[in-house]
Amino acid sequence: TQSTVIAPSILSANFANLGEEVDNVLAAGADWVHFDVMDNHYVPNLTIGPLVCEALRKHGVTAPIDVHLMVEPVDRIIPDFAAAGATHISFHPEASKHVHRSVQLIKSLGCQAGLVFNPATPLDVLDYMLGEIDYVLLMSVNPGFGGQAFIPSALDKLRQVRAMIDASGRPIRLEIDGGVKPDNIAEIARAGADTFVAGSAIFGKPDYAGIVSQMKAAVAA
Ligand code: DX5
Ligand code: ZN
Repeated sequence: TQSTVIAPSILSANFANLGEEVDNVLAAGADWVHFDVMDNHYVPNLTIGPLVCEALRKHGVTAPIDVHLMVEPVDRIIPDFAAAGATHISFHPEASKHVHRSVQLIKSLGCQAGLVFNPATPLDVLDYMLGEIDYVLLMSVNPGFGGQAFIPSALDKLRQVRAMIDASGRPIRLEIDGGVKPDNIAEIARAGADTFVAGSAIFGKPDYAGIVSQMKAAVAA
């Protein structure tokens, strides 16, 4: 099994002070930076692009940057994020006409490749893609906004993907995104997740270190 990763989603950070927010959350023990890219087309919201990723690198951020593309199409923007310092790039399979090609593109640029599944999206493409990817990202909310409630059916889906990953024998991470809190993360970990995105549970709260360590302790318990 993989080590536990806490990946705060900067969607809930104070964008007027983003460099300091990211420094603070990493100093608090977070492992990755989760970077939500929304295009007002694939999802009904608009956020940030490669320029902001590059700005975080120039600011001195050395942690992995986990780019979650909620854009359609995906291929044109992937090289820009690789050049901007992304280490992980995931996309929703229905947003690419050629999923295998998009995954190869991400890997050819030296990044880890992930596929993202919405709450109602079937896992079919994993039948052919599990041997190609580095991580699976399961959405436990509908993409587009932070601060939504965890959808309970994601637990069964986690168990299903965990079984597929274990059967594959490959070192694939299982990431969960949406509504993850200190009080449900233990159950989510038991269902098979090893990589946890959390936005509103961390940013805007007074004590990042307290929340990150509470989450890690709950996963370890
Ligand atoms: C939603 C994003 C999430 C979001 C999570 O489309 O992919 O990463 O920021 O936010 P919380 O943790 O508040 O549900
Ligand atoms: Zn996300």
